[in-house]
Amino acid sequence: MFFFIFIAWIEMPDSVSLKNLSAVVEGRQFAIQCDIVNVAPARNLSVLWHKGNKILSSQTFDESSPSPVSKSSVLTLTAHRDDDGAEIWCEAKLNLWPEEQRPLPVRSEAHILTVLYQPTFISASNETLDLPAGKNILSCNATGNPLPSYHWQFPQAAQETYKDQDVNYPILTGPFEFPGVYTCTASNSQGTVTKYFTVNKPPGIGPGAIAAIAIAAIVFAIICTLGVIHRKCKR
Ligand SMILES: *[C@@H]1O[C@H](CO)[C@@H](O)[C@H](O)[C@H]1NC(C)=O
Ligand SMILES: *[C@@H]1O[C@H](CO)[C@@H](O)[C@H](O)[C@H]1NC(C)=O
Ligand SMILES: *[C@@H]1O[C@H](CO)[C@@H](O)[C@H](O)[C@H]1NC(C)=O
Ligand SMILES: *[C@@H]1O[C@H](CO)[C@@H](O)[C@H](O)[C@H]1NC(C)=O
Repeated sequence: MFFFIFIAWIEMPDSVSLKNLSAVVEGRQFAIQCDIVNVAPARNLSVLWHKGNKILSSQTFDESSPSPVSKSSVLTLTAHRDDDGAEIWCEAKLNLWPEEQRPLPVRSEAHILTVLYQPTFISASNETLDLPAGKNILSCNATGNPLPSYHWQFPQAAQETYKDQDVNYPILTGPFEFPGVYTCTASNSQGTVTKYFTVNKPPGIGPGAIAAIAIAAIVFAIICTLGVIHRKCKR
């Protein structure tokens, strides 16, 4: 008889389920609820929260009722991009003695976390390259959720050359012949980031050199003209 009563008072939950599941934005706090329906004895219940292969927390309940009751556990977390795609679930178990008599724990289904975050360049800093460029690609690759979309802008002089390039691809392929600033933006619903690639003219054919050549040409022309006039005058 005693044995019968003892058995009757142990009841594994009818269900263990998660609630409040939605995409979360990086940096924000969010809560997931685990509902354990009809468990006894509730004071021997512990609820474990799992994320991947880690146990995040466990909760027990102060409950004197020997008959089945329903309990909820709420996990509060701050959304981090590293948790995007991570599996989270809760597990209900009864800590009964002797241990051999413990029923198997009951798990909720796993929820896959979706964390939204703004694009972040894989290589963050702006870049500078000198012509003639040894480097043949400019990379704007960024991580982000949703996946970022890209857009390139070229210096005026380069527009004709790159008109066939896909301005919405993360990588711009050279050769780079035109100095100026090449701008790439990566954007998604969470934000837009911009990276600048400055392509410098080869040394020696800068504006200084061009001006010097132009002045020399003008001086030469003047001397020539004067020379012609002089010779004409002489005649
Ligand atoms: C469920 O989510 C809403 C909105 O994010 C929040 O206000 C509420 O507290 C959450 N409920 C639980 C039980 O975590
Ligand atoms: C339930 O837990 C209490 C301690 O909290 C323990 O004394 C008791 O033996 C447990 N019940 C069973 C049936 O194992
Ligand atoms: C890149 O250059 C822009 C404009 O000059 C500047 O605002 C930004 O801070 C720079 N970014 C980095 C990572 O240095
Ligand atoms: C950058 O993106 C391109 C196109 O999506 C991809 O082929 C390449 O492997 C990426 N590079 C890096 C370093 O992630």
